[in-house]
Amino acid sequence: MKKIITFGTFDVFHVGHVKILQRAAALGDHLTVGISSDALNKSKKGRFPIYSQQSRMEIIAAMGCVDHVFVEESLELKGQYIKQFESDALVMGDDWKGKFDHFESQCEVIYMPRTPSVSTTEIIEVVRTTPDLDPG
Ligand code: CTP
Repeated sequence: MKKIITFGTFDVFHVGHVKILQRAAALGDHLTVGISSDALNKSKKGRFPIYSQQSRMEIIAAMGCVDHVFVEESLELKGQYIKQFESDALVMGDDWKGKFDHFESQCEVIYMPRTPSVSTTEIIEVVRTTPDLDPG
């Protein structure tokens, strides 16, 4: 059985998220997803996600291709998570290309092309700046 692991915030769930999870799952037999905690996002990006970690976990867990979700409490623990979940491959979008090569001693490291033209940051920006969408 080949076990895959991937990580992300997965805030304001969109088609780029669907596709990377489906493609990651297709590389193996079991997919574990680490959802970065609200506190981790606050400390790294200076703001909390729109959706809480509980909601983000429920959304990802509802996907048929996902077998297990957990909260990623610290970026520094990736190696431990890979060990804990006995992952054979770490899959990340290619916005992270090269950043996780040091895990190659533990497992296969695969970067997948991002889905073009969609990101959580852009969706938030569109909602924020489109007057007709502004409830206020
Ligand atoms: N991802 C992707 N294609 C996109 C957007 C994201 O394949 N268009 C992948 C990322 O490469 C990552 C995973 O989805 O492996 C989770 O990414 P995340 O950072 O949560 O989503 P983004 O939309 O990139 O969020 P942000 O704009 O806040 O960076």
